[in-house]
Amino acid sequence: MSFTVAIDGPAASGKGTISRAVADHFGFAHLDTGLLYRAVGRKVLDGVDPVQAAKALQAEDLQGDDLRTSKVAQAASKVAVIPEVRQALLDFQRAFAMRSGGAVLDGRDIGTVICPGAQVKLFVTASDAVRAERRYLELSTKGQDVTRDGVLEDLRARDKRDRERDAAPLVAAEDAVVLDTSEMSIDEAVAKAVAVIEARIAAG
Ligand code: CDP
Ligand code: CDP
Repeated sequence: MSFTVAIDGPAASGKGTISRAVADHFGFAHLDTGLLYRAVGRKVLDGVDPVQAAKALQAEDLQGDDLRTSKVAQAASKVAVIPEVRQALLDFQRAFAMRSGGAVLDGRDIGTVICPGAQVKLFVTASDAVRAERRYLELSTKGQDVTRDGVLEDLRARDKRDRERDAAPLVAAEDAVVLDTSEMSIDEAVAKAVAVIEARIAAG
């Protein structure tokens, strides 16, 4: 039996961290769908056509620390506005969501487009300042040459593009539970998400 948890939200809101912890807690599989768009974005930076890159995407394309740079993130959000790119990535995501044993997918359009019938939908947010500080700490700890202002600018530019595009824009599904993690530790945010999922399981 499938059980799908859809976790969406803007950049660096904590959705990936929550998704990994939730998957671990319940023994579900996890797919970070942002990696698909980042992998396409990286290929486009290498000169490949975006639609061809999306159609030809392989598991090994999802590896590599360089997928986590601001440059690749910007390239990802630019290819993500192209409907044919999103279409090429759709079947893989839907098949992943339907695997038996449960699945958590995080991204921008999981609860609205990829898995509108998901058993649980969370929309994770945090203030711009909090998100930028978290991502700045994460990237600078990994040794990337970033500034606080540069990271904030990157997040704002991507959020704007993600919210304003016509194809699968970033928006909370009507039936999503909104989780503002601005004032929450990772443990608090994960506990909240686990509680929402447990309540849904208990309700059958
Ligand atoms: O997946 P998404 O881009 O939404 O965010 P993330 O990669 O899960 O989180 C961005 C950074 O914020 C990571 O370094 C997390 O450890 C950190 N974080 C945090 O400090 N407090 C939270 N409540 C959630 C995440
Ligand atoms: O980790 P962070 O939230 O910073 O970004 P990500 O989840 O890795 O996504 C990178 C970019 O891919 C986003 O800015 C979106 O433009 C795009 N994306 C999307 O359009 N739809 C998804 N389901 C996931 C990511």
